[in-house]
Amino acid sequence: AIRRSQRPVKPEPEPKLRGNAAKKAAAAKHLSTDAIGTPQPLSLLLKLSPLVNELALYDVVNTPGVAADLSHISSNAKTTGYLPANDGAKAAFKDADIIIIPAGIPRKPGMSRDDLFNINAGIVKGLIEVAAEVAPKAFILVISNPVNSTVPISAEVLKAKGVFNAQRLFGVTTLDIVRAETFVAEIAGKSNPQELTVPVIGGHSGETIVPLFSKVTPSVKIPDDKYDALVNRVQFGGDEVVKAKDGAGSATLSMAYAGYRFAEKLLKAAAGVKGLVEPSYVYLPGVPGGKEIAEKTGVDFFSVPIELGPNGAEKAVDIIGDITDKEKKLLDTAVTGLKGNIKKGVDFAHNPP
Ligand code: LMR
Repeated sequence: AIRRSQRPVKPEPEPKLRGNAAKKAAAAKHLSTDAIGTPQPLSLLLKLSPLVNELALYDVVNTPGVAADLSHISSNAKTTGYLPANDGAKAAFKDADIIIIPAGIPRKPGMSRDDLFNINAGIVKGLIEVAAEVAPKAFILVISNPVNSTVPISAEVLKAKGVFNAQRLFGVTTLDIVRAETFVAEIAGKSNPQELTVPVIGGHSGETIVPLFSKVTPSVKIPDDKYDALVNRVQFGGDEVVKAKDGAGSATLSMAYAGYRFAEKLLKAAAGVKGLVEPSYVYLPGVPGGKEIAEKTGVDFFSVPIELGPNGAEKAVDIIGDITDKEKKLLDTAVTGLKGNIKKGVDFAHNPP
């Protein structure tokens, strides 16, 4: 959990943090069987952020040690670690401005993200229940897989508790964008991938991931003979890492970067910086501009570029109006997969085993 800092934000567009905009910014909460996975590098990045005043770590093991270690870094954030004893999750989440959830188990080779559902769904549900109780206004960033289902679970839990605000619940799909930037830059011969904006929409798993290369800015030419392989690499980039780690888990460092990148943008936007947009997997009907996109696609949970601001998701940007025929095909396949993933999450939230 993080409390936001009130220090001015450097560059980005320009504006400064509003004086009283920030208190507790994000909570790097985790519950993980892999304590050195995403949570530690994510916590390190958050600890280094001048936007974070307080960083509260929660896990079933190791957080006091990790917090003590981080606390020696001479940056702004006060860092604390909590374990399940003494209602640790509640203490860590209490009044957080942002709660980031990378909880759960990672994939092994041969597994899909959906194979993690049985374990991770219950973990995420439990954490969201705590968040609903002690930090009902927090921005919640869900990293735990399968994101396509854990975000619908989170929404249903928050609804049941009467505190759901779709503008404040985000499935983190940033790693797909980060990968797309990297892979497109390689093919297009760009030396700085971060100068590219590569929209990736849909979900966060295999064929539900839809890169829109026709919408890259500044525009790039993807040779026809490289298109399919590039789409495949963005869709299955996670598998590439799972395979390379050979049983030791999935992406953790690039995921930590992605989670941090999204959290940092949200913190800046919440503090008044304008013009910040990043795709995220949201409940479209609850986000301004999203209802029409949900009607077009036929799914309520979907990742599109989101304009971020003090209320969180200020606007869902409709980017699917004039996509190419190839992209339309990718979109259709994605929607079919997403429908099943979303239903599975919603059903679980209503009838947990
Ligand atoms: C990723 O995209 O790398 C993560 O979702 C982890 C995974 O299971 O692939």
